Amino acid sequence: MDSINVLYVLYVCYLIASVLFVVGLKMLSHPDSARKGNLLAAFGMGLAILGTIVLHHNKEGQPITNHVWILVAMAIGSVIGWLSAKKVAMTAMPQMVSIFNGMGGACAAVISLIEFGHYSEHAANGISIGTYLTIIAGLIIGSVSFSGSVIAFLKLQGIMNKNFRLPAQNIFNSVLMLATLGLGTYLVTSGLVSMPLVLTVFALSLIYGVMFVVPIGGADMPVVISLLNSFTGVAAAFGGFLYDNQAMLTGGILVGSAGTLLTIVMCNAMNRSLTNVLFSAFGDSGSGGGASGPQGSVREMSATDVAVMMNYSSSVVIVPGYGLAVAQGQHIVQKMASVLEERGVDVKYAIHPVAGRMPGHMNVLLAESNVPYEQLKDMEEINPEFPNVDVVLVIGANDVVNPAARYDTNSPIYGMPILDADKAKNVIVMKRGMNAGYAGIENELFFYPNCYMLFGDAKKSLEKLVEELQAL
Ligand code: TAP
Repeated sequence: MDSINVLYVLYVCYLIASVLFVVGLKMLSHPDSARKGNLLAAFGMGLAILGTIVLHHNKEGQPITNHVWILVAMAIGSVIGWLSAKKVAMTAMPQMVSIFNGMGGACAAVISLIEFGHYSEHAANGISIGTYLTIIAGLIIGSVSFSGSVIAFLKLQGIMNKNFRLPAQNIFNSVLMLATLGLGTYLVTSGLVSMPLVLTVFALSLIYGVMFVVPIGGADMPVVISLLNSFTGVAAAFGGFLYDNQAMLTGGILVGSAGTLLTIVMCNAMNRSLTNVLFSAFGDSGSGGGASGPQGSVREMSATDVAVMMNYSSSVVIVPGYGLAVAQGQHIVQKMASVLEERGVDVKYAIHPVAGRMPGHMNVLLAESNVPYEQLKDMEEINPEFPNVDVVLVIGANDVVNPAARYDTNSPIYGMPILDADKAKNVIVMKRGMNAGYAGIENELFFYPNCYMLFGDAKKSLEKLVEELQAL
């Protein structure tokens, strides 16, 4: 095959890969097709990588020759990726996504640095403004994404526990960002080919990534990770421009837009603006709640009584939350639901969009234990049903059922749509004690006359409930 035909075959590979990315992404939007969609997109990526290695020729018409290096690096990366994805606990998924995302940002930054080196060696007349812009934009965005993701990983992994905040952090960050963008703009517009100045842009961007994420509370990290994910996508898209690689361009744009949409969806579901998430240090330990905490005392119920109550009810709605994921109680909750269904009880799961700590956390958790997807009900769908529900079992959830969100303008969760669990005939809350959830505030629901507490680790309490139900 002559080199023109080889190029066409490579373009066809990129086209197929791009279509597979789009179709795969679409299929991710439903649990039934998500697994297949993921595989399809991965196949597209494999095709694009393989096509590049085998068919790519540089501008001088030379094919790629350093196959051993490439294959060894790919093998090492694949083994690390495979093992970490296999081993990761569902609750540790955000930090894994974060570190993988950081690697993507690092790749984009390294591509920019290497390509700058190539262009500056060969371009006696300087670098064209378009190419220079692509290099600098990929460098800045990729570096911010890399260093920011590393900090997000350290925070979520509990390695960096303290939130560090300078007295005028936001001003400092703004100055740093303007300096980085200013130097980048100067290089692009003047066409000055200077490796030391490009390395300065690189260093400033890395520092900005650190300073941008360091003051943000650990609990807000999922939103930050999603935002950094979109940065990495954009940086990769610049790499696609640089290499004239359509698959990289499409993949980057898809990641960039999906990350941006996810960030917006998460902020909307928490009823918080992105600026509030990024600049308010919400979720730090000690972040305050409403004007005054709820008054009175809570009422406890034993596992035996809860089992009897559920056994003789006609409908039970389970509200899973972060605590269920921590306790790893998903299998036993499914078992309990099966026992109840055998007794003729109608069982459903009410899924709040930001229950847990990552998007779709509860859906993924319950899918692990094969809960039928039809039993999972979105907030809008289940909310009108609550007044007719006999028993709501709130398992390790807190903020997503806090009625203060409806009216308490001083509450940090004011305006966040919540599950109307409090409107049910009986509410049983399963948690270890009276600790607050992510928002750091007390929950008045626990003091309502129709609410009873079943204290203990969610998994242990569920095991006890199953035992009691089976004994009835
Ligand atoms: P939270 O409000 O965080 O409450 C979780 C509760 O689980 C805690 O009050 C805790 O109380 C209990 N718990 C912890 N470990 C437990 C265990 N082993 N067994 C039983 N209970 C346990 O959870 P939620 O209702 O799911 O709300 C999620 C929060 O995270 C929302 O505020 C949301 O805005 C925020 N958030 C979500 C996301 C996404 S995308 N999902 C992203 C960022 C922030 P005890 O310690 O007393 O047991």
